[in-house]
Amino acid sequence: LGRLNEITILKLGGSLITKKDRRLSPDLGNIKTVAKEVSSALPHISDKLFLIHGGGSFGHFYAKRFGLSRKLGQASSEAIARTTGAMMELHSIVLAELLDAGVPCETIMTSQFLDDRDRLTPSGKHYLNIIWEKGLVPISFGNVFVSPKGARIISGDAIALALTSSLHGRNTRVVFAMDVEGIYPDSSMRGPIIDILQLNHGVKTSEGRFDVTGGVGAKIKVGTELAELGAKVFFVNGSKVQRIRRILSGDDSVKATRIYPEKRAT
Ligand code: IPE
Repeated sequence: LGRLNEITILKLGGSLITKKDRRLSPDLGNIKTVAKEVSSALPHISDKLFLIHGGGSFGHFYAKRFGLSRKLGQASSEAIARTTGAMMELHSIVLAELLDAGVPCETIMTSQFLDDRDRLTPSGKHYLNIIWEKGLVPISFGNVFVSPKGARIISGDAIALALTSSLHGRNTRVVFAMDVEGIYPDSSMRGPIIDILQLNHGVKTSEGRFDVTGGVGAKIKVGTELAELGAKVFFVNGSKVQRIRRILSGDDSVKATRIYPEKRAT
């Protein structure tokens, strides 16, 4: 894989960038905050940066309406088109703010770099290297994945997992930006967040209204899988200034929930 071995992945959760309980409604304030954070971190990031965003009340709204899930199933052409269309709409809002803040993003659709088993394709790797070599920041988003056997939702988290496993996880930092301080010990979401989440930690969870890909339980599962692949994982509040910027710049002491790999990669 050559140079593709030190990357920082930042996933902007749908709960952060959209108003999750109001359909098709972006959270422009949070999107602007995030764009500024990424922009001010850029000069300090030595790793290759990969941005991902979720669907929130855009993608999940249609996914739920049409019964799309992470499981491969039959989907009407309307279901596919509407869900992708909503994601493109959200994406263009996020992209515009990043560009205005001075982050030179290049959109890469999941179908351009992942195969139907969520693995990075050779042509995807090649394309990613070109993007990075040009000084661009690749950005992708959770979407509908269409294959000859049907359609399914590929979440932003699954994209992070696919990239990390293809890069063998080493020296990968995966940052999940959310609208809460981190992961709480239980669903009351009160009191202090968990600072370091031990692999196999039990956390009580509840599901959100439109979310077809998981809630907090799924987050922890993905975070654990990433850490098992050797990545350092962070769950951070992306609506608060300085947090994303500091984590992206390599500062591990930011208020966040962390999951560390068992043995640090050498
Ligand atoms: C979902 O992506 C994409 C669609 C529903 C089309 P995610 O599952 O990553 O979105 P969030 O972050 O949970 O909203």
